[in-house]
Amino acid sequence: MCGIVGYIGSRPAYEILIKGLHRLEYRGYDSAGVAMLTDDGRLNIYKSHGKVADLENFCNAQDLDGCAGIAHTRWATHGEPNDINAHPHLSRSGRIALVHNGTIENYTVLKEALEQQGYEFKSETDTEVLVQLIEYVMLTNGCQLVDAVREALHQVIGAYAIAVVDTQEPDTIVAARKSSPLVIGVGDGETFLASDATPIVEYTDKVVYLNDGEIAIITRGKPLKIITADNESAEIDIQTLKMSVSQLEKGGFPHFMLKEIFEQPRTIRDCVRGRIGNSGSRVTLSGVIEHADVFRRAKRIIIVACGTSWHAGLIGKRLIEEYARIPVVVEYASEFRYSNPIVTPDDVVIAISQSGETADTLAAIKLAKERGAFVYGVCNVVGSSIARATDSGTYIHVGPEIGVASTKAFTGQVTVLTMFALAVGQVRDTLDREVAAKVVCSIRKLPELIKQTLKLNDKIEKLSDTYTYVHNFLYLGRGYNFPSALEGALKLKEISYIHAEGYPAAEMKHGPIALIDHELPTVVIAPKDDLHEKIISNIQQVKARGGSVIAVVTKGDTTIAEIADHIIEIPDVPESISPVIVSIPLQLLAYHIAVKKGCNVDMPRNLAKSVTVE
Ligand code: F6R
Repeated sequence: MCGIVGYIGSRPAYEILIKGLHRLEYRGYDSAGVAMLTDDGRLNIYKSHGKVADLENFCNAQDLDGCAGIAHTRWATHGEPNDINAHPHLSRSGRIALVHNGTIENYTVLKEALEQQGYEFKSETDTEVLVQLIEYVMLTNGCQLVDAVREALHQVIGAYAIAVVDTQEPDTIVAARKSSPLVIGVGDGETFLASDATPIVEYTDKVVYLNDGEIAIITRGKPLKIITADNESAEIDIQTLKMSVSQLEKGGFPHFMLKEIFEQPRTIRDCVRGRIGNSGSRVTLSGVIEHADVFRRAKRIIIVACGTSWHAGLIGKRLIEEYARIPVVVEYASEFRYSNPIVTPDDVVIAISQSGETADTLAAIKLAKERGAFVYGVCNVVGSSIARATDSGTYIHVGPEIGVASTKAFTGQVTVLTMFALAVGQVRDTLDREVAAKVVCSIRKLPELIKQTLKLNDKIEKLSDTYTYVHNFLYLGRGYNFPSALEGALKLKEISYIHAEGYPAAEMKHGPIALIDHELPTVVIAPKDDLHEKIISNIQQVKARGGSVIAVVTKGDTTIAEIADHIIEIPDVPESISPVIVSIPLQLLAYHIAVKKGCNVDMPRNLAKSVTVE
């Protein structure tokens, strides 16, 4: 949540900063701001509520001079999203400007102490407190920017990624992080910084991921320097990015979400590449093989995640219990961390996160490690905080996901969890060879099966006309596809603002059936599986009460075709693989309804992609 960008070099900073903000807009879009610092120490600072485009419009008529600068796109935590609360924030004298991603938990205490020293505050933000504190330390100790930042951060409790400039030191940006991400791009005579690598990739592929507690001193014309909070010199580990600019553009699609839905044949191919061969039933996950002993002796697996990743975790539970025969519990990371959970060294904790930055999931990992568990990560963003905090793991490798509603990351997570369950089953010798061969064969075919399923797009677009203006939706599924129902409902509600609930189909009669009438459409996920007959009864129960049914069925299912109002036919796949295929029409349905309602599907209201606050 919130994105920060910085640049220092010889090019005009504004272009780089504003482009960077567009790339990070998925992290928050309540307000945005830039500050350019000129060589002679002038600060050109502009802020605007609303999206980055609003800031850009405002900046068109301004002095944009300066070859150094910092910028911010905000997801509001403290204070409403207006111009005053927008970043960058300035110190009292106006010489220091700061952008911040995170939350300063003890900001009221710090604010009161500064108020007693005569400081006044313009905004309601925790961030303004930090910039005033830095100036206070600087004046009191008579020190330079970097020492003032280091000293001020000693007094701060909370999470932060910050970038700070001082008009008295126009050749320097100081940046620091704790629990919020920060990446530094090392160019030729120029340096970039950002909340993730997307604003950096078109200028350089050399990056340094700042570690928690580190402070970077970025000085024009000098090599990057990193120090610890105790002023010790820290190692600089330059890594090479494996990301391309084309991955960050819409590529002819009207929205990132649609592009990402259509990318899934390729993203799943990338996800399984090198992990299953062209033949045979073996799954090679180095994260499992290198820790085979841990998985052999594991007594229990605890999956922690949030939102869509939690839904993937529910599917993971069934897969792992089926193929690896280890009991699995699935916890919301936000509940787990505050529940004084029983975790022992015999447990393996799996943390699932697309962004790798979700604050609750990170906190759950910390707790699990303190209690001796081995932690395995399933992340998308390479080098993210969760990927680095875990003992081992598997990247889903689906490329940057920019649409706020998760699509290709979900199918990547489920695919990785399927391979994980098989890999652990191999290690524990719990896997029936024939079953393994069948599942691996289906994983191999997934890209082609997804491609076929995407042909449903036109049909679903037409179908969405009927449902654009309904107020409620029910999603039902059973077994492996109960979590698919939850995920389908989440997709619809987050981008179209239509209330939707996911339910296990057989639970409907224990309460939600009371909701059914001719105004409530029900999406029933009913591919051919062991519970097929049962779900037909559930459909009949809905129809008997005047509800309309959209059924997702296996191609050729004439029984359901006769009773449902609409059918969406998907290819015939084994039950354990079906959630990946089922999710495609559900993503498309949510997308088309939201577009027809005129919603901004890539940036739904109130949401941000990377939830780095509690
Ligand atoms: C929904 C969605 C969110 C995320 C959740 C966890 O479409 O994207 O529910 O799944 O915020 O985020 P990650 O996976 O980054 O930890």
